[in-house]
Amino acid sequence: MQQQRASIVIHGIGTLVTPARVPAPIRGADLRQVVEIPGAAIAIGDDGSILASGVEADVRAAITTGEDTRFHDARGALAIPGFVDCHTHPVFAGDRAAEFELRNQGASYEEIHAAGGGIRASVAKTRAALDDGSIGPQVRKHLDWMLAAGTTTAEGKSGYALTLHHELESLRMLGAIAEDHPIRIVRTLLAAHTVPVEFDGDPDGYIDQVAIPAVREAAATGLASAADVFLERGSFDRTQAHRYLTAARDAGLAARLHGDQFSDQGGIELAIEVGARSIDHLEALEPGDDRLRTLAASDVAGVLLPLSSLFLGRPYAPGRVLADAGAIVALASDFNPGSSYGESMSVAITLACLGCKLTAAEALTAATINAAWVLGLHDRVGRLDVGYRGDVVLLDQPALAHLPYHVGTPGIQSVFVGGMLVGAPSGSHA
Ligand code: NIG
Ligand code: FE
Repeated sequence: MQQQRASIVIHGIGTLVTPARVPAPIRGADLRQVVEIPGAAIAIGDDGSILASGVEADVRAAITTGEDTRFHDARGALAIPGFVDCHTHPVFAGDRAAEFELRNQGASYEEIHAAGGGIRASVAKTRAALDDGSIGPQVRKHLDWMLAAGTTTAEGKSGYALTLHHELESLRMLGAIAEDHPIRIVRTLLAAHTVPVEFDGDPDGYIDQVAIPAVREAAATGLASAADVFLERGSFDRTQAHRYLTAARDAGLAARLHGDQFSDQGGIELAIEVGARSIDHLEALEPGDDRLRTLAASDVAGVLLPLSSLFLGRPYAPGRVLADAGAIVALASDFNPGSSYGESMSVAITLACLGCKLTAAEALTAATINAAWVLGLHDRVGRLDVGYRGDVVLLDQPALAHLPYHVGTPGIQSVFVGGMLVGAPSGSHA
């Protein structure tokens, strides 16, 4: 076989860690069987795909180099796949720092929501910023934060605009920004996030007149590949969520749902019934709840969002129970202005270990290849294997165990997207 010429060789890797080499989604005991290769290198070709990865001498033997091949010395760093953040809300304007303070004084998230704050407060600001064009730099800033934290692929939801025009505009604008941003963005329509003021008391009217038409339009125009709904008291009930997700499925979109965040509304049953890709949150489920086993036996992923547990002082989702029962477990930041104002996947990994009781290896698998599976990208991203996109994060850490252990500052040395160095703290070199 003809050897391929490398465009970049990342050498001097202390240890390379990548999910188990079994088909995605990864579940059961395989979740923690990550591949760890000391003394490794990664060679990436002109098209941004990995040509060879593994023991350095083997990689060098497997490829050719030329005058234009770049060499990047990892100086003993830990190499992991770029994080895949499969649940984020980056399209919003302003912030809700004042609510953070209110909650610390005793107000609950649901009380603030019921009093017209919460999501609705962000909706008012986001509509105005979409109308006057000031939203673009804010969304770009959110993506910059994610990239700096080592996220190289992210899902991005609409959901803070809630009119037909503004929801589609949110997706269009996100797509336009993503075109010249290194992060790969997968768009999800979250038209059914909450009932906007103009439909107060009429969630059915909103679903029929706005959310379902938005689903059809987003599918027809290719503005989204999935649709998501917030199934919760105060937002949408099971019948409404079912109508919306069925319309999404019929239009060819993947179905996802925010479920069991504060209360049980039959989310797991609904997710399985409509063949959803994932149900996200699950903090309201007790570890002994039989429905966890029902979810584990299905092909619906359970997406853990432990940053929102930290942020809202809520219980952590029973990740350990799900993993032991064989569920498809994924992990995401839930970056948004109200319930998780944090984009760090490494902090999410720390909390997945401390709160949901996953091992470091399980959390890494959940934050890479399984998250990629939720987005339908598991053949391209989420592993450091041949044929995968050259999305690599180099960490100044001695071993995988240090990723959750070193809270908040994982020592990101360099971030590569498709073999291009896109992020490195000042002082580091290429
Ligand atoms: O995923 N749960 C609903 N939606 C977001 C929170 C949105 C907000 O508070 O602005 C979530 O947690
Ligand atoms: Fe969310």
